Amino acid sequence: MAFIADRLQRIKPSATIFIANKAMAMKAEGRNVIGLAQGEPDFDTPQNIKDAAKRAIDRGETKYTQVDGTPALKAAICAKFKRENGLDYTPQQISVGTGGKQVLFNALMATVNPGDEVIVLAPYWVSYPDIVLLCDGTPVAVPCSQNHGFKLRPEDLEAAITRKTKWLLLNSPSNPTGAAYTADELKAVAAVLMRHPDVFVLADDIYEHLVYDDFVFTSLAQVEPKLYGRTLTLNGVSKAYCMTGWRIGYGGGPTELIKAMAALQSQSTTNPSSISQAAAVEALNGPQDFIPRNAAVFKQRRDLVVAMLNRCEGLFCPTPEGAFYVYPSCAGVLGKRTPEGKTIETDIDFCTYLLDAVGIAVVPGTAFGLAPHFRISYATSTEELTEACNRIARACEALA
Ligand SMILES: Cc1ncc(COP(=O)(O)O)c(C=O)c1O
Repeated sequence: MAFIADRLQRIKPSATIFIANKAMAMKAEGRNVIGLAQGEPDFDTPQNIKDAAKRAIDRGETKYTQVDGTPALKAAICAKFKRENGLDYTPQQISVGTGGKQVLFNALMATVNPGDEVIVLAPYWVSYPDIVLLCDGTPVAVPCSQNHGFKLRPEDLEAAITRKTKWLLLNSPSNPTGAAYTADELKAVAAVLMRHPDVFVLADDIYEHLVYDDFVFTSLAQVEPKLYGRTLTLNGVSKAYCMTGWRIGYGGGPTELIKAMAALQSQSTTNPSSISQAAAVEALNGPQDFIPRNAAVFKQRRDLVVAMLNRCEGLFCPTPEGAFYVYPSCAGVLGKRTPEGKTIETDIDFCTYLLDAVGIAVVPGTAFGLAPHFRISYATSTEELTEACNRIARACEALA
């Protein structure tokens, strides 16, 4: 009898974490590696947020808290949803977890029965299909091609929905493409959902503050209030507040769902860190002025990376609306040979070549369900990005 449970056979460890770890191990061996695989801002957590955490420790806020969030944090989240998204949630409609990832996990674990289908849009965040599989569900990938800006076409959604569809997972701006939906595009998606009243939607807004060129972010339940009762609006402090390590994410949704998620969390992690929750209160209620400043830096980096990649032989890089990722196509290098005589047949081959030949760690599109592409996270310094793109250009030139 196998010791490890069957459900573990269905999932793979996160490809992005795997590549980031490999790059770190190569660095530790003294190799000059630039890691562009990790999805986190390189900026430090703002000082006022750190100070709030220190004060919480000194006040003795080091004990268990309410399972799905302290009253202070839930109040801050309700205020945020109202202020920034025009969404009315009461504290009973809020669930706080150890990162947005746990909130997503709880929502699916609390609702998905064996055989239930969950629609994921390819290219997807690597965790979506695997969490669905862990919850005994069936991920149904709908391809969203580069030709359509990596966005869902309403007719493709219509075709993918069956009687078994429980959820649609919709992420805007997107990891891994940076594509963000305009209000009109969300309305078109919502129009399809209105015809299917049993489908729930998880609107993953974690990158909402990272949008460029006057793009106006809107959230699904804001654009179509009739979907409010079956939408879980997911967000967190990791990306906008540079707090990935603090592990605070949250969702707003129907009370029945939120209660079930709390029951689940009470039997797993109990509550998110009391200190991190105090820090998140300060993040949401405190000064917000650094957010557009950081976004302006990300926009400059995006423009730099897009321009440099589009000068690389065989690559094509569209300009995304948001997040800190680009998702270039490497279709133009397939079939070429490396100086060692190996043929590049897939995006995995290309990314392996980049790591081995020029020490650049990026994630192959295959991991996100849409090939042949690769994802670059540009949440790193301009100098490193310039050096990385120069190395990628050299690697492309060396192919024959
Ligand atoms: C699309 C998307 N959603 C949610 C998350 C969750 O982030 P966290 O668990 O740090 O809140 C991430 C993190 O990479 C992400 O890329």
